[in-house]
Amino acid sequence: METLTTIAQLRAWRAACADAGRTVALAPTMGNLHRGHLELVALAQAEASVALASIFVNPTQFGEHEDLASYPRTPVVDIERLRAVGCEAVFAPDAAAMYPDGCEGVTCVEAPGLSDILCGASRPGHFVGVATVVAKLFNLAQPEVAVFGQKDFQQLMVIRRLTRDLNFPVRIVGAPIVREADGLAMSSRNRYLDAEQRAIAPTLYQVLGDTAAALRRGEAGHADLEARGMARLCAVGLRADYLTIRRREDLARPAPGDRALVVLAAAYLGRARLIDNVTVDLAA
Ligand code: PAF
Repeated sequence: METLTTIAQLRAWRAACADAGRTVALAPTMGNLHRGHLELVALAQAEASVALASIFVNPTQFGEHEDLASYPRTPVVDIERLRAVGCEAVFAPDAAAMYPDGCEGVTCVEAPGLSDILCGASRPGHFVGVATVVAKLFNLAQPEVAVFGQKDFQQLMVIRRLTRDLNFPVRIVGAPIVREADGLAMSSRNRYLDAEQRAIAPTLYQVLGDTAAALRRGEAGHADLEARGMARLCAVGLRADYLTIRRREDLARPAPGDRALVVLAAAYLGRARLIDNVTVDLAA
């Protein structure tokens, strides 16, 4: 596996792929790789001739009081894991390579209407940071395909929007959520949970599943379903940020007749901010 740390190395590797007629699928990550990330790499390998993973803890997507400093960084283990699954290359730059003039005042990418709702409302600037670094990665790596996890449902929508609006010739693939045996969606931030919190955390998925099941049974009072879900999260000690039923297409509140829905939630548990979602297709 090629380990690339500079932009010059990445560009040279990309040019060699093009010369050899090989297509590239990018799997962007912030490292601390778990099974969910390795599934992104597996999908990338299936979608193009070569898979390129990136590892970069992007400072611009963290708020001032968030966990940038303590975010788990395990580069040696990560690179071993990528090598073990046969990933062809990894791009692991430092912040100076990605933001040579610092993070303040850099040109930014924003997806209006999507960036400032739900997680974006609680984490101002987060999706601008994500969109900006993903646009930079697309420009640098010029992948034909890029793979992102569906756990970060809103992030995936922001990325689809920026890809379309900025005319990137990149096909975006959403990867199914990978869960622990008890249903908890895999996330690097699950490491922040102590044993007691870890036992509580799967409630998030259970409540989302029950809300989705109620929608499928035809229960139509969305506000009531959301309030019941929030109350269940609070009852076990999850500090719910939101639990909401949205239209899958644009995350707007569903109108009567909308059938493709998603139930999304975010909740704090100790130091961890957990997010998850369940999609719902209502019968005609
Ligand atoms: O999902 C993530 O790990 C990050 O938000 C991403 C897409 C790699 C951008 O930093």
